[in-house]
Amino acid sequence: ARGAALAKLEKPKKKKKKQDTSGDSEDSSISEEEKKAIADMAAKEAKPFSIADTMVTLATRAGFGDYQVNAAMGLAKSLGMNPRECASMIVEKIRPKIEDFMEEPEIAGPGFINLRFKPEYLTSVVEYMASDPAGRLGLPKVSKPQKIIIDYSSPNIAKEMHVGHLRSTIIGDTLSNLLSFSGHDVVRLNHVGDWGTQFGMLVEHLRDEYPAALSLETSQDVDLGDLVELYKAAKKRFDVDDEFKARAREGVVNLQAGNDEEIAAWQALCAASRVEYQKIYDMLGIKGLQERGESFYNPYLKDVVEDLESKGLAVESEGATAVFLEGYTNRDGTPLPMLVRKSDGGFNYATTDLAAIRQRVEMTSEDGGERANRVLYVTDAGQAQHFDMVFSAAKMAGYVPEGSSLEHVPFGLVQGEDGKKFATRSGDTVRLKDLLNEAVRIAGDDLRARTENENVPDDVIDQVARIIGIGAVKYADLSMNRESNYRFSYERMLSLNGNTAPYMLYSYARICGIIRKASGQEVVANIKWPEASKITITDESEMELIRSIVRLPDILTEVEQDLYPNRLCDFLFETSQKFNKFYESCSVNKAESPEVKSSRLTLCTATAGTIRLVMNLLGIEVVEKM
Ligand code: ARG
Repeated sequence: ARGAALAKLEKPKKKKKKQDTSGDSEDSSISEEEKKAIADMAAKEAKPFSIADTMVTLATRAGFGDYQVNAAMGLAKSLGMNPRECASMIVEKIRPKIEDFMEEPEIAGPGFINLRFKPEYLTSVVEYMASDPAGRLGLPKVSKPQKIIIDYSSPNIAKEMHVGHLRSTIIGDTLSNLLSFSGHDVVRLNHVGDWGTQFGMLVEHLRDEYPAALSLETSQDVDLGDLVELYKAAKKRFDVDDEFKARAREGVVNLQAGNDEEIAAWQALCAASRVEYQKIYDMLGIKGLQERGESFYNPYLKDVVEDLESKGLAVESEGATAVFLEGYTNRDGTPLPMLVRKSDGGFNYATTDLAAIRQRVEMTSEDGGERANRVLYVTDAGQAQHFDMVFSAAKMAGYVPEGSSLEHVPFGLVQGEDGKKFATRSGDTVRLKDLLNEAVRIAGDDLRARTENENVPDDVIDQVARIIGIGAVKYADLSMNRESNYRFSYERMLSLNGNTAPYMLYSYARICGIIRKASGQEVVANIKWPEASKITITDESEMELIRSIVRLPDILTEVEQDLYPNRLCDFLFETSQKFNKFYESCSVNKAESPEVKSSRLTLCTATAGTIRLVMNLLGIEVVEKM
């Protein structure tokens, strides 16, 4: 998104005859109006606290100020101007808009513009953040809320929910929290894999083993036992027994036709799976995720294929129906088909996603559609090509109206500590329940060891261990660039040092302790700071902390656009490090004067509020004492 402002600029009308590469000659072909337009553009973009998507970017180094504008060189080149002159032209335009809160812009090097906030402006922002009674640190909601669908978690019925689903759940939840905090209308959808040919063999297996599951009256009450075992047993029969295989094929047809017995068995399977994954959601504290599985889109599938055929996009291919898209080939160079109807008439994964796109962005609410502005799909990077193809087919078919975007949010693999496949010692896939329980257990043991002599009640230990353990798993996942693979390590994620949940949670509790002691108030989260004690700077470390905190709105805007939650973790880590530096050099309780003490308390409150807010966006609770 960066540089979009530049792209919006009109190209200069007349091309220079022959560019002298030094670029320092004034070009007569640029009119005064054009120069004015460019500078106006730059000025308009230079707004504080919503600078993303403009030519003003966060400074990459403290020495460059708080923001920087690097556009002058590029502009100057395409306009045939002197870069420093172009920079000062931009500065002239920006100055009146920013002089209330920024120092005189500084032109550096070949034409960089460095922008630096005035200290008194920064302190007033933090005073405002600390005093916000709504508990959102003074952050405004977006003026034009969008409807945003987030498709995440999405496990498959009767199959094990694996670490990939865990990543999707954690990342999707954070993005949902963030976008709804910003004021968007967020719809959290669980696109459960609850349809497909595997149900034929499952239904037939139930017919033999759990006949009561095939009656609509009794199917709800049947205990199907361990679903993963059930799946394995059915699959085994399917693979070796031809008679069973034939029955399974028939079972699918009957299910699709809506026969009572098959529907009853299918419902029993879905209900049993739902109980299983709900346990995981409860452990993770996932709320507001609506189940809208693949079966929801069944009524639209036939239409999609017919529509694609009528538009000449879908064609017959070896008995099946497929869409061929330019640029997609198999390894051997032959065109790669995107199947939308199998030779037996059944539909494919892609067909459902195409139907879902129509329901999510094309159809109006009158027709039962969502008309979302943005749809985010949080899945492993292995599905990138699937989504690429589905999105381009949808666009070609005209399903994606102007003002709607479809975005795949891919993530990498979770690997074992040795960098190989993530599995148990015996090589089986790791059950999520076991994984989460193990993290909580380690956190609990650690906590008990450290509080041995403090008589902490068991239920408090258990509660804090749960927050640390689950928080550690989430934070470890979110703090990585989501596109890279990462190695799962209890030791690293539960470490008290480094960019981890325990470190952040302890930092938060420590700040709360300082505030409790200095303010005499028991519950820090409830403290209102209406007097917004004026901040008096006595030490450079205070200013550094402030510069870190005030970046929050920009960070949120960035994540809202490019969907990388690790920026939030980096921000938290940096802020808490700045806090530690501040606390090393500045005493709060024994401050040199009452003014300085309340100033520092305000800083502590703003820092605590910032950490609490961001941790909550990451789906992690905080505790004030631990
Ligand atoms: N159930 C799929 C899986 O386990 C993920 C579904 C993602 N969402 C979608 N609209 N295709 O891989």
